[in-house]
Amino acid sequence: MDKNYYITTPIYYPSAEPHMGHAYSSIVADFFARFKRIDGHKVFFLTGTDEHGLKIQRAAENKGVNTLDFCDEISKTFRDLSKTLNLTNTDFIRTTEKRHKLSVQHLWNELKKNDDIYLSKYSGWYSVSDEAFYGEDEIEEIDKKKRAKISKSNVEWVDEESFFFRLSKWEKPLLDFYKKNPDFIAPLSRKNEVISFVESGLKDLSVSRKSFSWGIQVPNERNHIIYVWLDALTNYLSALNYPNTNDKLFKDFWPASIHMIGKDILRFHAVYWPAFLMAAKIELPKKVFGHGWILSGDEKMSKSKGNILKPLEIINEYGLDPLRYYLIKEVSFGNDGNISQERLEDCINSDLANNFGNLCQRVSAFVIKNCKSEIPDKVNFLDKDLELLDNYKNNLNNIREKIDDQDINFYINYIVNSLFAANKYFNDEEPWSKKDDPIRLNTIIYVSLEIIRKICFLLYPIIPSSSLKALKIFGLNEKDIIFSTLENHNYLIAGNKINKIDILFKKIEAK
Ligand code: ME8
Ligand code: MG
Repeated sequence: MDKNYYITTPIYYPSAEPHMGHAYSSIVADFFARFKRIDGHKVFFLTGTDEHGLKIQRAAENKGVNTLDFCDEISKTFRDLSKTLNLTNTDFIRTTEKRHKLSVQHLWNELKKNDDIYLSKYSGWYSVSDEAFYGEDEIEEIDKKKRAKISKSNVEWVDEESFFFRLSKWEKPLLDFYKKNPDFIAPLSRKNEVISFVESGLKDLSVSRKSFSWGIQVPNERNHIIYVWLDALTNYLSALNYPNTNDKLFKDFWPASIHMIGKDILRFHAVYWPAFLMAAKIELPKKVFGHGWILSGDEKMSKSKGNILKPLEIINEYGLDPLRYYLIKEVSFGNDGNISQERLEDCINSDLANNFGNLCQRVSAFVIKNCKSEIPDKVNFLDKDLELLDNYKNNLNNIREKIDDQDINFYINYIVNSLFAANKYFNDEEPWSKKDDPIRLNTIIYVSLEIIRKICFLLYPIIPSSSLKALKIFGLNEKDIIFSTLENHNYLIAGNKINKIDILFKKIEAK
C-alpha cells in the first residue's frame, strides 16, 4: 500500500472574499486528508491562492489599490478561513511567492527546451472571469453580449503576439493515457466529457500575454507574461520544491494522489495540466476529481454572480462542525447541491444532537451513575454483541476502498447506520433493567462504549472537534485516533475511567 498521500484543493482567486463553494472544496479535501492520516499515511495537504492575471489586476484597479497589497489582503482572508474551517493543510501557497515564480519559470524553460513552445499570434476570444480562451463555437450572444456558453461569462477579443504551447501534439498521448489510467478522471460522467472534448481535436494553446503586466515574466522575454493557468497549475509542484526533484518533499509526494477541484476547472486539470507535465517529462498526478457545485437557487454560487452565502455567517450561527457535517452528508458527492438552512438544522437536530450527542451522553451518564465511572470488567459477548462489533472489523477494507473511490456518501451512510444500530442496541438491551445480571449489564455497557469509541473515530475526519470532545469520555486524544483499531473488540481497558462530557450539540428550537 502507498503510504504517502498528497491532496490539493484549487488555489483560489483572491478577487473577492471566499464563499461557501470554496469552503466546500476545502472541507472535502480536509476530510480525505484527515482520514488518510488516521489510516497511517503521511499526508501533504495543499491549498492557497492564485494571484496573477487580468482578473486580479482588474479587481485591484477597481478598488484603486496596489495589486500586491490587494492580493495580500484577500489572500489573508482565505488563509484565515482555512483556520476557521479547522483545515489540516500542510502548506498554503501564494503564486506571488518567489519559490513559485522560480518553479514556473523552470517549467517554462523545460517546455521550451523540448520544443513545445513557439511564438505566434493569438486572435480570438478570452474570458477574464474564467481566464480562458474560447473558440468561436464555444461562444454565444445574449443581449448583444458575447459570452462563453459553458460559464456564461463575458468574453473579449484579443489580438496579440503570443507564445503557444503545442497542445495538439499531445492529443493522442492524452487519449492513450486516459485509456491506460481509467481512474485518472472522476467521477465517471466528467471523464466522458473530457474524453469527448479531447477527441474533438485540440488546438495549440496560447500561453503568454503581452497586453498587461501582472504575472510571471516569460524567461528572457520582457514583454510577455506567462498565461495564468500555466502559472497556477504549477503550484502543485512548487509547493514540493520543484525543480529540485531530489528534494525529500518532491520525492515523497509527487505525483499527487488527487487534485480535488470543482467541475468548472476540469479541463485545465485533466487536459492542459497533464499535457504540460508530459511535455516537461514529469510524472502525472494519479487522479483529478471534479466535484459538483454548491448552488444558490438554480445557479452556481459565484463571486461574479454575487449570489453568495458566507461560510462565516453560517459558522457563527450554527458552529463549524455542523456545517462540515452538513456539506459532507447532504451534497451527494460529485453532483451539485443546494444549501438549505432547514436541512442544516435538521442535520443538527436529528443526526448530531439526537443520534450522536444523545448516545454519548446517555451511555456515559449511565456508566457514571451505575458502574462507578469505570469501563466494566467481566464481559461475555453474545452473538448479537459480536455481530455488532464485527461489522466494523469486516468493513475496514471496504471503507478504505470507498475512500479511494471518493465515495463520501458510502462513508457517511455507514456512520448514520452505525448510529442507528448503536442507539437501537442500547434501547433494546435495556441495561437499566439488568441490575440483577451484572455480567450482561457489563457486556451491554462495554459494547455500547466500544461502539461509541469506533463511531467517534469514524466521525473524526468529518467533525474533528466534536469527535475529540466526545472522546474525552475515554480520555482519548487526537494521536490515539487510529483507524485500524476499529477492528479491535477490546480496545477499551476495563477499570479505566469514564468522564462526564459537555453537551456536544445544542438542538435548534423551531422558530
Ligand atoms: O478557478 N460550488 O479559482 P476560483 C462548489 N484560481 N465549489 C465551488 C463553487 C461552488 N459554487 N465556487 C467555487 C479558480 N468553488 C482558479 C483555480 S487551480 C490551479 C486554479 C470551488 O476562486 C471549486 O473547487 O474560481 C472551484 O473549482 C474553485 O472553487 C474555483 O475557485
Ligand atoms: Mg471561478
